[in-house]
Amino acid sequence: MDLGLRGARVVVTGASRGIGRAIAETFAAEGADLAICARSPRPLHEAAQSLRESGATVVAREVDVADTDALRAFVDTAAAELGGVDVVVSNVSGGSAADWEQALRTDVLPFVALAEHAEEHLAASDRGGSVVLISSTSALHVAPPSGPRPYGAVKAALNHHAAALARALAPRGVRVNTVSPGPIEFEGGGWARRRDNDPDYYASIRARIPHGRLGRPEEVARAVVFLASPAASFVTGANLTVDGGFLDRV
Ligand SMILES: NC(=O)c1ccc[n+]([C@@H]2O[C@H](COP(=O)([O-])OP(=O)(O)OC[C@H]3O[C@@H](n4cnc5c(N)ncnc54)[C@H](OP(=O)(O)O)[C@@H]3O)[C@@H](O)[C@H]2O)c1
Repeated sequence: MDLGLRGARVVVTGASRGIGRAIAETFAAEGADLAICARSPRPLHEAAQSLRESGATVVAREVDVADTDALRAFVDTAAAELGGVDVVVSNVSGGSAADWEQALRTDVLPFVALAEHAEEHLAASDRGGSVVLISSTSALHVAPPSGPRPYGAVKAALNHHAAALARALAPRGVRVNTVSPGPIEFEGGGWARRRDNDPDYYASIRARIPHGRLGRPEEVARAVVFLASPAASFVTGANLTVDGGFLDRV
């Protein structure tokens, strides 16, 4: 199936490692051009160089998404240097931090700012603009690893906003979808750390995944790239779990 992404102009936040990097690589493999950001320069520019070697045009900027002015400027730079924006993927999260205000700054406000600021560019896209929010299964249940912490709660708030935006932006030809990964493992990521430092907890989570293993970043990335693409032209307001059956729900 041709996803129709050749030459698409794609913004991905937090693309220097893990799921965000796999998303950028999967878009590049489909022939898209990219604007990526992260805070640490070295892994960011290493990721950008590797994407360029695969043939993509890549804009890379050191941006902390909690600085919403810098995030808006990044979107403007992406649009100027790539000639527009067709797709925005909001991938960054503050993770499992215990600070509620920080979680609002790193998770909720950046997605709100990103979607608002990209709207005009996305509405102008010939392909039909598309937004994908990276959420989490932690938004959809309260059992471990979710629990009474900011992470699941702010992700649930984001799911609500994404679903509402999907209806609000549909008349402008812009689709908004959510991808909710279950536990995803890669070297340097949170679950690889738990595997090494807290093997009993890691094993207890793995035991609840019917596929018997954690997911891989590229398994999330393929779902994201499909939903973002013109191949999903009538899909909006969806929340696609990518979790090996971890969530027990209809
Ligand atoms: N991994 C999982 O098991 C899992 C499961 C469910 C959902 N998710 C969701 O998937 C997304 C990606 O997760 P991941 O595990 O791949 O994350 P990760 O390993 O923490 O990578 C995050 C990426 O975002 C960048 N980043 C972090 N904070 C940033 C900030 N304030 N501003 C700009 N860039 C920032 C990081 O680079 P710098 O640190 O250099 O900035 C890195 O490139 C998140 O939304 C997460 O909640 C992950």
